[in-house]
Amino acid sequence: MFLEARGIIKAFGSFRAVDGADLDVTEGEIVGLIGPNGAGKSTFFNCLAGDTQPTAGTIRFLDRDVTNATPEDHARFGLARTFQVPVTFEDMSVADNVMVGAFLRHRARAAARRVAEEVLDFTGLSALADTPARSLGTPGRKRLEIARALATEPRLLLLDEALAGLTPAEIRLAIELVRRIKARGITIVIVEHIMEVILSLAERAVVFHQGKVIAQGAPRAVVDDPAVVSAYLGHHMKRVRV
Ligand SMILES: Nc1ncnc2c1ncn2[C@@H]1O[C@H](COP(=O)(O)OP(=O)(O)O)[C@@H](O)[C@H]1O
Ligand SMILES: [Mg+2]
Repeated sequence: MFLEARGIIKAFGSFRAVDGADLDVTEGEIVGLIGPNGAGKSTFFNCLAGDTQPTAGTIRFLDRDVTNATPEDHARFGLARTFQVPVTFEDMSVADNVMVGAFLRHRARAAARRVAEEVLDFTGLSALADTPARSLGTPGRKRLEIARALATEPRLLLLDEALAGLTPAEIRLAIELVRRIKARGITIVIVEHIMEVILSLAERAVVFHQGKVIAQGAPRAVVDDPAVVSAYLGHHMKRVRV
């Protein structure tokens, strides 16, 4: 199994943000992780990427038990993620931010720079390479988050609302970018509120509600599932044309 999470629980005091979630990911697929705000999606990503330790459960990635591995270990094993709130080095240039990712596998500055340049080109950021990260707008920041993750040369990429806050035109470009990432052979799990993004990108959708997986399957069937619709009651299920 490529990625296998079993019985993941993450408790904060007596509250379980993730409450016994399972997830299997097969190499090469794009999985859409959906669910209302507060369902536990980001906390689950934190567990998968080693940014927090699960209270219970096991995570295996590429036949290795990574349940208690650090974020650096995960990155080295080939798992990269973006954060819902981008964590850029504000005073550094776009290129240098991407080089931070590239240094994971390349000690030599010249080699790291070559990787960073390729990733900047791939993500359409070359023209902004020398711009300080702090002066980027939302689309640039979202792209930089993805670029930095790609620079670690991952096999699995976890995208946490990497398209949030974009205009429909920018979303179309971002969808295109995600497709090209998949074409590079990178497996993707994407958390996204915009259903059209999930419907057009994901081969499989997994629905979180109150820390549990309540449905999964073909995205179209899942979005129309009455249990899923009711989990979203009182929440905003975003449907925009892209
Ligand atoms: N560090 C934390 N301490 C306490 N509660 C948290 C913490 N992180 C997240 N939560 C809570 O866990 C629940 C799930 O949050 P989150 O994983 O961010 O959901 P989602 O990403 O699906 O919107 C929310 O109720 C949130 O307030
Ligand atoms: Mg979240």
